[in-house]
Formats: sequence, structure tokens, C-alpha cells
Amino acid sequence: MATNSQTSSASVEVVILAAGQGTRMRSKLPKVLHPLAGKPLLQHVLDTASVLKPKAMHVVIGHQADRVRGAIPCDVKWAEQTEQLGTGHAVQQALPDVDDASVVLVLYGDVPMVSQDTLERCVASAAAGNLGLITADFDDPAQLGRIIRNGAGAIQEIVEFKDASEEQRAIQEINSGIMALNGGVLKRLLSEVKTDNAQGEYYLTDTIALAVANNIEVEGLKAERPEEVTGVNDRLQLAELERVYQMDRAEELMRGGATLADPSRVDVRGSVQAGQDCFIDANVIFVGDVVLGEGVRIASGCVITDSVLGDNVQVHANTLVEGARVAADCALGPFARIRPGSDLDEGVKIGNFVELKKSKLGKGSKASHLTYIGDATIGADCNIGAGTVTCNYDGISKHKTQIGDRVFVGTNSTLVAPIEIAQDAFVAAGSTITTNVPDETLAVGRGKQRNINGWVRPDRRKS
Ligand code: UD1
Ligand code: CA
Repeated sequence: MATNSQTSSASVEVVILAAGQGTRMRSKLPKVLHPLAGKPLLQHVLDTASVLKPKAMHVVIGHQADRVRGAIPCDVKWAEQTEQLGTGHAVQQALPDVDDASVVLVLYGDVPMVSQDTLERCVASAAAGNLGLITADFDDPAQLGRIIRNGAGAIQEIVEFKDASEEQRAIQEINSGIMALNGGVLKRLLSEVKTDNAQGEYYLTDTIALAVANNIEVEGLKAERPEEVTGVNDRLQLAELERVYQMDRAEELMRGGATLADPSRVDVRGSVQAGQDCFIDANVIFVGDVVLGEGVRIASGCVITDSVLGDNVQVHANTLVEGARVAADCALGPFARIRPGSDLDEGVKIGNFVELKKSKLGKGSKASHLTYIGDATIGADCNIGAGTVTCNYDGISKHKTQIGDRVFVGTNSTLVAPIEIAQDAFVAAGSTITTNVPDETLAVGRGKQRNINGWVRPDRRKS
């Protein structure tokens, strides 16, 4: 029954509990800052909650509060709980800042995989005047709070494991901890919560029985799957959730038309958009925002970070690509390192043990072996020979190398920047180039070879 003049357009305020120490992590890092898929647990919760466009997100912190605050860049209201007296007490710390008319959605900083859909159902229930409570059926409910229903199936209360009878402990429906209800009602109910329980704490879960006593309907909403409401208490659970999260990402990729050699050996720490018919071999890691065109092939052992790869790009084994734009039909690696600011036009070929940084290569250019190219702009159809190094750093500043179209740089050349090599020029192997090379010119920058007749090797000299 509706207890207030709430409508479905009531604004939402989110309260996230994150004050606990997380003792079982055995870590100097606060539990809610441990990463899942490269992102802090708490940030996952904030990102999902922010999709609801809440009026405010309140985060209750205590243990290492400054460190938690410092690690979260988004706009939240921090509430401090200096002593951890229980989940009910934790919520209370945020309430002075919460509007009575708002729907309050309570979340946990260590329950990172809750879905947007579940949160929406919970909020809708509260907006209709209920206390919306997310529950789940667990095969092994362990120490979680148990949902107690009456003969008619209506939720009556939550009993914490430590306070539960043997009979109650046999119940498999558990409290996820996630609930939503009207702000004013929550304040009233929490003010009635006492500490007469096994742990001597203010339990948020006691608000359920109090709601029932106040004729507020408690609507139990089942999570779509248990993983969604699984909390992280130790590193084993963190690793289990990581696998669930990664399998979800792998499924998305496969449903989108990518082939994964082994879906359990691809990691997505961010987002990947993949065109049709990409092939991703085992042990590939994606970090940040990655976009793949159609037919991209990525071999084993590659790490692709914040990059855009065009159609039919081939990334051979053990190649690192970061902050790069790689146009269609390029081939990279094996064992190449493409660093931020690299910009490769169609059909560029980067071979083994080549490092690129902040450099542009024009269409069809090649650097096939053992080369460092930094702060360079290279035209189309160039050949950069094995062992070529752009000397871009003089110990104080970085300098640029400019190379025109169709330039051939012979093996083991040293290009001392700032330097310009104009189109169709040819650099002889082993040259050290320190002055600009005009177009269509051969540059030879090396000592002239001498052959000394009659010279005797030291090991063959008579003493
Ligand atoms: C709580 C629920 C339990 C539920 C489980 C789901 C209560 C009393 N019990 O139990 O029914 O099944 O979550 O995971 O609510 N926290 C604070 N301040 C405190 C205490 C806790 O911020 O004083 C935070 C913790 O950092 C954590 C969350 O609240 O993020 C849950 O606390 P925890 O001690 O793990 O509760 P559980 O015993 O797991
Ligand atoms: Ca917990």
C-alpha cells in the first residue's frame, strides 16, 4: 500500500555502503577499490547506478575514507561513518542529505555486477509505494541473511545467519542487501532499529519486519541470476566474479559475430566493439575502449589498449597496441610495440621487434624488422630497413623526423632528428643522417671502407 504521495516520477537517490574494512581480502587496499575487469568494485556500482540518472549518489565510507574518495573521480556525495556499527547505521549517515520525497536505493560497494534492469525493477517497486527488496536463490546461501515468508508467501522479515535457527538456515532465498523505498519512510523505520542481535549491530535488514508492522508492502524481486548480487568478501570470490564478468563479455563478442578461440581466455577490461568475422585467439587482453572493424584477426598474447583497428587488420602474436589508429589491411607484429599516438594508413606493415611512438606512416609503408620510429611522419610506400632508428631525443627535447613518399631507408640507418628526407630519396645502408636529404637523392653517411693488404691477425703473429 502506498504510504506517501509518491509517483513513478519520484527522483531517485542512491546510497552505496562502502565503509567496511574488508578484512578477508587481507589487503592494504580498501576492498571496494579492488579491481574487477580493471575497474574498482565501487566504480562498477556507481557506473550502473548512474544509468538511473539519480538526483544524487551518496557513498558511505569509513575504512581508509580518504583513499576511497581519492580513487573515485565521479560526482558523489560522501558520508563518513567513523565507527562501523552496522548496515542500518551506515545508511543513516547518508540520510541527513536525502530528501524525504526521494526513492532511496541502497546498494553495496562490494556487489559489483548488479544489473541495470534489476535496479530499475527495485526502484519501480519503491516508486509504487512498496519496499522493493532484491532477493536470490542460492544453492549455498552460506552466511547470508535469510528471507522469511509467511504461509501466503509474503515476506515477513530477514534473519541474519548468526541470529537464525537451524530451520531458518535451511532457507535458500537470501537477502542481496539491495532495497529501495521512500526516503521519509526509510528515515522513520531506521530510527526504530535496535541492536538486540547476535552482532550487537544496527541491521538495515530489520527495516523489513518494521515495514511489515507499518503496513508497508515488501515486494521481493528475484535477481535474474545469483552472480548479479554476489558480494566480494575475499580474493577467491573476486576471481570467481571476474570469470563470470569475462564470460559475459566473451558471449557478447560471440553473439556479435566474433570467433573466440577460447572464450575463457579473452579478457575485456573496458569495452570492445567488434565488426563481423573477427577472430580472437587465446590470451588476448583488451583494455579501455577498443574498436575493431570487420575481419580483424588478433593472435595470441596481444594486449590492445584504447585503439581503433580497421577492417582486416592482422595483429600477430605478442604485439602491444596502445592509443593507436590502425587503418584497414595493416599487419602488425609478431612482437611489435605500437605506442600512443601511432597513426597507420591502409596496408602498413609493422614487423617483429619494431617500436612506434607518436608517428604516422602513410599507405603501404613498411618497417619489417628491429626498428624504432618515434615522433616521425612517414609518407606512403616507404621502406624502413631493419635496424633503423630515429634519434628523436637529445637528452633535453624531442625532435621530429619527416620522410616523404617512396623513400627507401637502408638497413641499420640512424636518422638524427630534426631531419627531413624528401620523397623518392634513398638512404644507403648503415648511414648516419644528420643533414636533410633532397628528393630523388642518394644519401650515404658512413665511413668509406678500407681493405688493408698484408695485415696479420693478432693470433697469427710470430712473437
Ligand atoms: C549484509 C546483510 C545480509 C545480506 C548481505 C548481502 C545486514 C545486517 N546483513 O550482511 O542480510 O545477505 O549483506 O551481501 O545488512 N557496511 C558499512 N558499515 C557498516 C557495516 C557494513 O558500510 O557498519 C558495508 C560494508 O562495507 C559492505 C556492506 O555494508 O559493503 C555489507 O556489510 P557486511 O558486513 O558485508 O554485511 P553482511 O554481513 O555481508
Ligand atoms: Ca558482505
